[in-house]
Parts: sequence; structure tokens; C-alpha cells
Amino acid sequence: MEVKDSIAAEFDQFSGNYTEDMTKCVPHYPKLLSCFTDCLPDGFSPDTVLDLGCGNGNVTALLLKQFPHAHYTLLDASPEMLALCKQRFVGNNVTCIERYFRDYHFPRCRFDLITASFSLHHLDSGEKQWIFPILFDALKPEGLFTCSDLMISKQHDQYERLREDWRLFVNSHYPDEEKWNWLMEHHRLHDHPEDYETQKHWLLRAGFREISIGWNNGYWMYFTATK
Ligand SMILES: C[S@@+](CC[C@H](N)C(=O)[O-])C[C@H]1O[C@@H](n2cnc3c(N)ncnc32)[C@H](O)[C@@H]1O
Repeated sequence: MEVKDSIAAEFDQFSGNYTEDMTKCVPHYPKLLSCFTDCLPDGFSPDTVLDLGCGNGNVTALLLKQFPHAHYTLLDASPEMLALCKQRFVGNNVTCIERYFRDYHFPRCRFDLITASFSLHHLDSGEKQWIFPILFDALKPEGLFTCSDLMISKQHDQYERLREDWRLFVNSHYPDEEKWNWLMEHHRLHDHPEDYETQKHWLLRAGFREISIGWNNGYWMYFTATK
């Protein structure tokens, strides 16, 4: 598979066999997805949810089972991913928006819950620092921001070690190394993972409080932050 220049084109192409590819290429992907429902505070029940970089809708599908009454806004730059979501959630209270984050006019004080599953690592450091205050403003008071991702920068002294473990994981599913080579080209061009502590610092600066890791295995992490 050829790596595309833009995120939208890249994920249009990726959408074909997306969940299986993610499960076999991203360590702990199913567990990190389940955190979006399993690690919510007791009694938390959102009426309005924003799924940031929704992909084929795996996070929304889980949340919908637990919170069928809520309204879901799904935002993604990939038309093919959103086409899958439209099919998947027909008849549900779901609005799909095809847009890059930078072009979306985030409403103020609209959402009880904002989720970002493996989407924020596509933003570089400057873009992450830009979006955190916007997410803060888009949440209602006491609203929750929840995020799963790889949280280690490419400059971290454990990064090469992480990559080697990751390679073993991917090659256990695709032994011919072709998938790994494709994934690393994608990772080189499109991924800008950041250390958790760095992101925590930016989240605090944006106004968030009670930022904590809900689950992690090494640098594969899920965290929550409260407005
Ligand atoms: C790795 S997928 C994750 C999808 C889904 N959240 C999941 O956990 O399976 C990343 C998604 O984020 C979207 N995305 C990445 N950067 C984006 C941006 N700047 N604006 C809009 N969508 C973006 C991609 O199109 C893709 O569908």
C-alpha cells in the first residue's frame, strides 16, 4: 500500500480493512478503545459527544451502546471513513462532519464529552497546543476530554526500544515485514506522537484539571482531563 500525502487520502485508503488493520498494527487497540466507556467516572452520562477524528466510528459505536440517548458529532477529514460512519449509525442521533480540525468552527460550551482515539498524534506540537484550549472552550463546565494514543515523542530515549517492541507485535501478525515497512513510512510522514507529561503541561495551561492516566501499557495510554 502506498503512503499518501494528505491525512484524508491516507485514511480513505486505510478505511477498507480498518478495524482489523488497527488491531494487528496497534498494540492494545481493543483495550484502549474499551477505556472510552469502561474508564468513565461513575454516574457520568453525556448528552452531547464530539468524536474527534472518528475514523470508522469505533469509539462512537461503544459509547452509543451505553448512552443511546446522547447526540454525537463525528468529525473527520476522510470522506471514506465518514461514509462508513453514516452507514453504521443510520437511524441514530449522529451528525457527521467532513472537515480538517483546523477548518472546523468548534462551538463553545457544547459538549459533555470529547473523545480523541488515535487522532491527536496526527497533529504536530504546535497544532496540539492550538487545539487544547479550543477543546476546553468547546466543553461544558465539568465536561470531560478523553484520549487514547501512543504517547512518546520521537526524540525520547526509549523511542527506539518502543519501536522494536512495536515491530515484533506487527510482525507477529504480518511476518513478511511488508506491513511494518508501510506502517513506518506512514508513521514517518503522518505521526507526531508526544510524551504524556508534555501534553499534560499543555492541557493544564489550557485550563484543564484532574488530568490522569486511566490505563496504560508502556507508552500506549488512555487519559482523561476535566474542564
Ligand atoms: C488512526 S485513525 C483513528 C480513528 C478512530 N478514532 C479510532 O480510534 O479507530 C485517525 C483518524 O483521524 C483523522 N484525522 C487525523 N488528523 C485529522 C485532522 N487534522 N483533521 C480531521 N481528521 C483528522 C483521520 O482521517 C483518521 O480517520
